[in-house]
Amino acid sequence: MLGGRSVLLGVTGGVAAFKAAYLARRLVESGATVRVIMTRASLEFIGPQTMAAITGSPPYTELFGTETVSPHTELAAWADVIVVAPATAATMARMAGGESDDLLVATILAFTGPVVVAPAMHTEMWEHPATRRNVTVLAADGIHLVGPVPGPLAGGDEGMGRMAEPEAILEAVIAALHGGDLAGWSVVVSAGGTREPVDPVRFLGNRSSGKMGNAIALTAARRGAAVTLVTTAPAPTHPRISVVPVDTAAEMAAAVWEAAAGCDVAVFAAAVADFRPAEPAPTKLRRADGPPEIRLESTPDILAGVAALQPRPFLVGFAAETGGTAAAAGKLTAKGVDVLVANDVTTPGIGFGADSNAVTVFTAGGSEEWPRQSKDAIANRLWDLVVRARSH
Ligand SMILES: Cc1cc2nc3c(=O)[nH]c(=O)nc-3n(C[C@H](O)[C@H](O)[C@H](O)COP(=O)(O)O)c2cc1C
Repeated sequence: MLGGRSVLLGVTGGVAAFKAAYLARRLVESGATVRVIMTRASLEFIGPQTMAAITGSPPYTELFGTETVSPHTELAAWADVIVVAPATAATMARMAGGESDDLLVATILAFTGPVVVAPAMHTEMWEHPATRRNVTVLAADGIHLVGPVPGPLAGGDEGMGRMAEPEAILEAVIAALHGGDLAGWSVVVSAGGTREPVDPVRFLGNRSSGKMGNAIALTAARRGAAVTLVTTAPAPTHPRISVVPVDTAAEMAAAVWEAAAGCDVAVFAAAVADFRPAEPAPTKLRRADGPPEIRLESTPDILAGVAALQPRPFLVGFAAETGGTAAAAGKLTAKGVDVLVANDVTTPGIGFGADSNAVTVFTAGGSEEWPRQSKDAIANRLWDLVVRARSH
């Protein structure tokens, strides 16, 4: 999600500062390199050693008197995104006024990228006209505000002003970084492996886990797209993903065809059975009856059905190959897709069930090898490619 990204976390002096430690850990777990600026007041609430242990480097606290000549400009040049969590009323006031007399606000003013702010304070402070004014100014300046939310506050109080949960702040950081470049897109993704009934309890299936399709759906939603995820597998939750659970190739075909009409991009990451038992047994097959003869018939060609739509969406196909990806080269034109992503599922550590993948990507312009990386990273790279291709 945040692999290779540099995230600067600003921690200010509120009780919710203890949650900044968990946010830092989630940022690190998401692949980001994290540096921390702590305001002097925040040091009253959480120890710098905690943040150092989680991020691997000691927090920055001072504008002057450090070994670094110009810490605010150096940190601003290093960061891809700044997130202030928790953000006190005082820090938001300084940000709104451009008062760069501490390291955090000086760095924010020297920074040209996205800034995410997660306010946290008592309800009275949040509702005070001064805070209202500052929030309006920050929003107009393009700051991404996340929360606060209603709930229990420090000292046993209850009301609006509680910091958004770290997971929500993490999502806001991801969304701010990608700038919502898929906003307004409607996307259909198929995922998982289909199951074709042999009898009421048995099926012909395959080893697809749905992880690649899930990563494609989730990254698209995070980048602003409205996603329909047609899947046989457990699906990720996101406000912009609507899940259509299916089981068989025929169910998947019906759901994909319905969703694909009028969509912008369709991605076929599901492993769909080519054949299914022609006459599934109505009752469980019994050992005593001996091995059954199972006659197979073809399943609907989901991709061909979407490729025939007028106008048709931008099409991304996946090809699971065994013994190298060269065999996939001809499928780009044979299947009539704009992008074909091929992976060798017999390579250990990639493909079915794994968290990483290595793929060969075929387009009309040629082919590219994307070496082993997380399925999230592959998915983001794929969307970068689709954005470029659709803008030509
Ligand atoms: C116990 C305690 C809790 C506080 N909690 C908050 C808070 O949740 N939100 C807030 O805006 N200020 C809170 N304050 C006030 C800030 O610490 C104070 O405004 C400080 O100057 C903020 O500095 P900073 O924004 O540079 O970190 C609290 C103060 C105390 C003593």
